[in-house]
Amino acid sequence: MYHASLNPFPSTFLFGSASAAYQIEGAYDQDGKGPSVWDTYTKLEGTTFKNTNGDVAVDHYNRMEEDVALMAEMGLKTYRFSIAWTRIYPTGAGEVNEAGLAFYDRLIDLLLQHDIVPMVTVYHWDLPQALMDKYGGFESRQIIEDFTTYCETLFTRYGDRVKHWITLNEQNIFIGLGYRNGLHPPGVKDLKRMYAANHIAFLANAKAIASFRNLVPDGKIGPSFAYGPIYPADCKPESIIAYENAEELNNHFYMDVYVNGEYPDMAMKYLEREGIAPTVEPGDTEILKAGKPDFMGVNYYQSGTVSANPLDGVGEGKMNTTGKKGTTSASGVPGLFRNERNPHLETTNWDWAIDPAGLRVALRRIHNRYKLPIIISENGLGEFDKLTENGEVHDDYRIDYISKHIDEIQKAITDGVDVLAYCTWSFTDLLSWLNGYQKRYGFVYIDRDETDEKELKRIKKKSFYWYKDLIARHANEG
Ligand code: NOJ
Repeated sequence: MYHASLNPFPSTFLFGSASAAYQIEGAYDQDGKGPSVWDTYTKLEGTTFKNTNGDVAVDHYNRMEEDVALMAEMGLKTYRFSIAWTRIYPTGAGEVNEAGLAFYDRLIDLLLQHDIVPMVTVYHWDLPQALMDKYGGFESRQIIEDFTTYCETLFTRYGDRVKHWITLNEQNIFIGLGYRNGLHPPGVKDLKRMYAANHIAFLANAKAIASFRNLVPDGKIGPSFAYGPIYPADCKPESIIAYENAEELNNHFYMDVYVNGEYPDMAMKYLEREGIAPTVEPGDTEILKAGKPDFMGVNYYQSGTVSANPLDGVGEGKMNTTGKKGTTSASGVPGLFRNERNPHLETTNWDWAIDPAGLRVALRRIHNRYKLPIIISENGLGEFDKLTENGEVHDDYRIDYISKHIDEIQKAITDGVDVLAYCTWSFTDLLSWLNGYQKRYGFVYIDRDETDEKELKRIKKKSFYWYKDLIARHANEG
């Protein structure tokens, strides 16, 4: 890092790390917490690897001081964490749970004592089960009001100390996996319901941002979008059309609404032809436009590559919305793009393409299209880390992965992109929603597996010392 020919990272740049409540906290029913949809879903037989769940996770709720001490030792500049809605409102709405609020007070104060900037995610997928039971969660417009009330409670309570806020984490993923692939709660496979719920999530996001303006006028807020920039597989004209379709439907479809309050034309036309377009009611566009974010949060893991689907009738204008090679859209008509393997990229042991330059592509595209600052709210490598006999973890592959991505951020900054922060995923190892504890992302190893919690000992990996050193060098050079 720190290539002389490139612009340096700004001195205000925040090198950080991230987590999410359900993946680390455990204590699933402690101090008045209510059940979330993830507490329920993971208990259904066969939904997760070896039926893993977050009842204990890495017990961060009871070891928070120890974890923050490790962050302080590392010299982290920012720590992104999410608040569990059901700790604050056990049934999603109604009476507030003071014990839940107090936990995050303690966490925020401790971070600030160590000069670690708290970055709060309001919603990282753990919807109150009570709201799912009452009205179907994001399938009802009632959630807009309950979500806004929940957000206002957080803004009022923590807004004096927390100035960086993320609204919805990866709306495209939690809605997509929840309503298209049926892999996340509520386990539905129905594109019409998916786009309807997605529209309501947009409205909830925008309303929360609008109310933030009065309550935390000196703060910054935005969503975290899972952006996989799309490449055409080759330079055939039909591949370029396929790439444009995929970029529009997978990416612009979300970010355009966040930033401009309007869906992109061609994607909407396509959804209308398919009979799966969301209903935009009178007044919705005004709500969406009043919720413009201050920055775009980007979770970047990999790029995607597409070609035209040879089975497609181009005149019919069908796009593939499933993101799977050779699959069909809801109506069973072959899609207009087909996912391909990129022959120029290696993959992780989880078969995710390793593409550091894709992060630069992502940053440049967002900058060019939306003219907003960017927070990289997640990036990291999930691997099967091994503890040696001496109790060490030699994760050189993670160091290599993260350092290459940081190099590309520096190039993007030199290109002129305004990047405010970089949060690795994740600080400690944690629960992977469907993959249990075998897939590790952290700088800190947690000694547990799917079935045996052991003592949940924290062990610093080699990457811990490396990132610590990188942050210190930035502080000295910045
Ligand atoms: C994105 C999600 O925000 C996070 O919760 C998840 O664990 C990582 N990606 C890795 O899949």
